[in-house]
Amino acid sequence: YQNIKSLLFISLIMKATATTNANIALIKYWGRRNDELVLPTNNSISFTMDDQLKTITTVEFSDKLQHDQLYIDETHAKPHEVERASAFLDVVRKMAGIKKKAVVHSQNSFPKSAGLASSASAFAALAAAASKAAGLNLSEKELSMLARRGSGSASRSIHGGAVEWVAGSSNDGSDCYAKQISPPEKWANLRNVIAITNSHEKKVGSASGMKQTIKSSSLYLARVKSVEGRLETVRNAILKGDFEAMSDAIMQESNNMHATMLDSWPPIVYLNSTSFEIIDKVLDFNLRYGKSVAAYTFDAGPNAHVYTTSKYEKEMFDILQGMSKVEKVMSCKVGNGVRILDKHLF
Ligand code: DP6
Repeated sequence: YQNIKSLLFISLIMKATATTNANIALIKYWGRRNDELVLPTNNSISFTMDDQLKTITTVEFSDKLQHDQLYIDETHAKPHEVERASAFLDVVRKMAGIKKKAVVHSQNSFPKSAGLASSASAFAALAAAASKAAGLNLSEKELSMLARRGSGSASRSIHGGAVEWVAGSSNDGSDCYAKQISPPEKWANLRNVIAITNSHEKKVGSASGMKQTIKSSSLYLARVKSVEGRLETVRNAILKGDFEAMSDAIMQESNNMHATMLDSWPPIVYLNSTSFEIIDKVLDFNLRYGKSVAAYTFDAGPNAHVYTTSKYEKEMFDILQGMSKVEKVMSCKVGNGVRILDKHLF
């Protein structure tokens, strides 16, 4: 009787906490072939970052709630953030066959003002915590497919190390998921030296930016063709553990994506003058060494992610730190995938 009682009690508590880290892509996701299911036009490859770029999320489903509630860094989330989280929770509720609304608390390890807020760590943590709280017991592959529904790049943050998100070809998304291609230990000497050049929220969100690019950029089709070669170069270099073999392809990939953004109408401009100064500095750095020992990449924003190895980390850090318009520099290692925590945020 005691056992049944405790079983009942456990099943009534629908609460779970998960943590995941942000990831920064070497081969980018920029464009969807299906908006609702978040199916991308091409594969992408990223490294998951260490706990400096971490999100912890607790989800509790309850009968007592009329609406979903979302708190980010202990403050009420904005209406559009609540709406997006709620739409994602609907996917989880449907999978689990429940109707209960949820309270969600999400805490980032980095200050919100750093301009590093990541939908990847946010939706990966939400996917893991919400599915567990709803009683679903998903595999990491299934979790990455669920996280993808919240934000495409979140599918990659489920795994640690180097991760490839496979675009797949089926219309129902059943072959579209992220998988680890190299464990974090293999890339222990990799560094992402991050230069914050502007900490304000971006003007054009990823989802609408991608749409605009596909609709209006004549360069976009060329990008989809050329990305295949860079994917192969980066994937092979990752498997071999050879940074220099992928360094140029990483920079070419970032340039290529930002070229299609600029080619969109109205144009989408994420890089600022400091971003371009950093591009120059990195190219000079490689010229000085006579080999490609550092590689810049930019997401949908002006902050630079300079991938390099531990050997060049300090020098690169000092160069970026010395730039008057750089607000802050931090250096990240490669980190782990999703973890379920026993300690809840509330
Ligand atoms: C430029 O994953 O934020 O960072 O699916 O609309 O949430 P949504 O897009 P999101 O896009 C990331 C775009 C990118 C490249 C990348 O991370 O691959």
